[in-house]
Amino acid sequence: MQTDLSKKFGIEYPIFGFTPSEHVAAAISRAGGLGVLGCVRFNDPEELDAVLTWMDENTDGKPYGVDIVMPAKVPTEGTAVDLDSLIPAEHRAFVDRTLTELGVPPLGDDAEHATGVLGWLHSVARSHVDVALAHRPALIANALGSPPKDVIDLAHEKGVPVAALAGAVEHARRHVENGVDIVIAQGYEAGGHTGEVASMVLWPEIVDAIGDSAAVLAAGGVGSGRQVAAALALGASGVWMGSYWLTTAEYKLGSAAGGPSSIQRALLGASSSDTVRSRIYSGKPARLLKTKWTEAWSKPDAPSPLPMPLQNILVSEAHQRISAGNDPEVVAMPVGQIVGRMNEIRPVAEIMAELVDGYDKAVEKLNRAR
Ligand SMILES: Cc1cc2nc3c(=O)[nH]c(=O)nc-3n(C[C@H](O)[C@H](O)[C@H](O)COP(=O)(O)O)c2cc1C
Repeated sequence: MQTDLSKKFGIEYPIFGFTPSEHVAAAISRAGGLGVLGCVRFNDPEELDAVLTWMDENTDGKPYGVDIVMPAKVPTEGTAVDLDSLIPAEHRAFVDRTLTELGVPPLGDDAEHATGVLGWLHSVARSHVDVALAHRPALIANALGSPPKDVIDLAHEKGVPVAALAGAVEHARRHVENGVDIVIAQGYEAGGHTGEVASMVLWPEIVDAIGDSAAVLAAGGVGSGRQVAAALALGASGVWMGSYWLTTAEYKLGSAAGGPSSIQRALLGASSSDTVRSRIYSGKPARLLKTKWTEAWSKPDAPSPLPMPLQNILVSEAHQRISAGNDPEVVAMPVGQIVGRMNEIRPVAEIMAELVDGYDKAVEKLNRAR
């Protein structure tokens, strides 16, 4: 399973794994793929610096990447406005009422209250780029738009290729015009922020639209070797997977000591129909696990979600309470439709071996069909 792109990165398999967990990212790189650490959760650049130092030391010298989130437009960015004051009282009342109705306990007296994800503000995302470039990332990826030209130039000066997610052909074309090296074609079924075109249609559409001007990674719905084979057959140079790593043994975020977290238990029991695309997580459409929390937001009395970044500021403390509440029926978590295949907690290396084996079997089967 080698492509020009995997050779370029010096990795064994063209399997790129996005994850917010450094433990999972390092394990993906050690297992022969390219682990890509999601940086959006790091409000403090020093914490990111420490985590990347850990990555440098725990990847056996293998390459890894980082992922930042710079939305094309955040209306309030750069203005001296008090974001909290822009959140309507009606929205706050709805959140409080819903948490009470769902039996989500309040935070303990000594808990530090969450302020919301700031990593998608340009100022914070730029600090992520600066911190990352002081380490040894093999790739910088960006969600929600092309990174600004000077960020692309800076990465290129350091010899680091730049990738960007695209949910539609016009996004892919724009990325290429801006100098992006790798387009991540992400279909509708993906977890997290996602567009409206399904992977089966989008992947070859983007491959055809951008030709040789950039490599394409196929994202959205990949969780088996057969799907990796399908991605390469549709013209991609590799796959980019996100959801599938959430139920790995190395994924410990949101978990109390020992055993799967309430989030993992909810994911293990979910089918491919148990997701919903909604603006309630960040203000932009994102695919989430369908739970009592997402259902409450789809009832007629629910207010419309606020634009980014206000919506996440509104719900950040609710997310913290939900996570501490540890109830698998009340979970706020991005995940894609591939959740239906995520039925066991397994080590990353075992998943990687299964992807490779499934790919080999699919290719053999296709060869026999010639
Ligand atoms: C929990 C979760 C968080 C995500 N956060 C980000 C993010 O911060 N930046 C990003 O580029 N993509 C993010 N994504 C999208 C992934 O990078 C990836 O494109 C997507 O998961 C691929 O589809 P799949 O979920 O079907 O594997 C996230 C996905 C999940 C499931």
